[in-house]
Amino acid sequence: MLSFSRRSCTGAVVLLALVSASLAVKAGDIFKLCKRNDPQLNECVKESILALRSTFKNGIPELKVNSLDPMVVSEISLNQGSGPVSIKSTFKDLHIKGFTDVQIHNVKVDLPNYRMDIDTSLDWFYTWGDYDIKGQILVLPISGTGPSWSNYTNVKGRATITGHEVIKKNKTYFGMDNMLFDLDVGHATIHMDNLFNGNKVLGDTMNRFMSDNWKVVYAELKPVIDEAVSTLLRDVAKKTFDKFPLEELFPK
Ligand SMILES: *[C@@H]1O[C@H](CO)[C@@H](O)[C@H](O)[C@H]1NC(C)=O
Ligand SMILES: *[C@@H]1O[C@H](CO)[C@@H](O)[C@H](O)[C@H]1NC(C)=O
Repeated sequence: MLSFSRRSCTGAVVLLALVSASLAVKAGDIFKLCKRNDPQLNECVKESILALRSTFKNGIPELKVNSLDPMVVSEISLNQGSGPVSIKSTFKDLHIKGFTDVQIHNVKVDLPNYRMDIDTSLDWFYTWGDYDIKGQILVLPISGTGPSWSNYTNVKGRATITGHEVIKKNKTYFGMDNMLFDLDVGHATIHMDNLFNGNKVLGDTMNRFMSDNWKVVYAELKPVIDEAVSTLLRDVAKKTFDKFPLEELFPK
């Protein structure tokens, strides 16, 4: 009786191991893979990123990556004490929409030095979320709290990923040091509802003023937007590099 139950228990363990091995996600299930010695490696990685865009709306559950279109940043704050724009502001549940249509231009993959540079462009991206702001923009005081939206057009973005070699269980991994995403926009339209406690005349004036002076406003917002987008994309890259060894991501 005892030996019987032990045998069936072993059987169950073997069965479980077989099932989980067949369910284990492979890099090739998610990504279009590129051979590391492909003379067209950069072009291949470009195609692979373009193919990945179709996953942006629903995320990549195998990597526990949430939607990238829209991306959601739970909270970002900006504390700008001096200069033409001196504001204290917080954005909550900031949604960023539009990245499914990102175009990929130059890709430079330098695997031996653990570096990748990716030039991208985007016709527009749109954000919405709740704001809380107090301060001064050029000559005008600004204050309020409520919903806001903005649309950024003719966008160029450059991603730089740097890392170092990590060996785990005899496999080589891309240990990510950083990923920076630097965004430049051709134009920004920024709108805040309910400024000045809902005073419509003052609010309309401020929104028009921000549109006329969008360059000054965007210059202050840029580091915050760059960091928000970088944080989310860094998470995707890190989950990928932590899960799959380079032998699998870039087979020989
Ligand atoms: C953002 O602006 C572009 C260019 O004017 C427009 O085509 C696009 O529809 C706008 N996006 C949203 C979500 O309104
Ligand atoms: C690690 O890889 C080397 C070279 O391929 C091999 O000689 C060695 O036996 C491997 N060690 C383990 C623990 O798998």
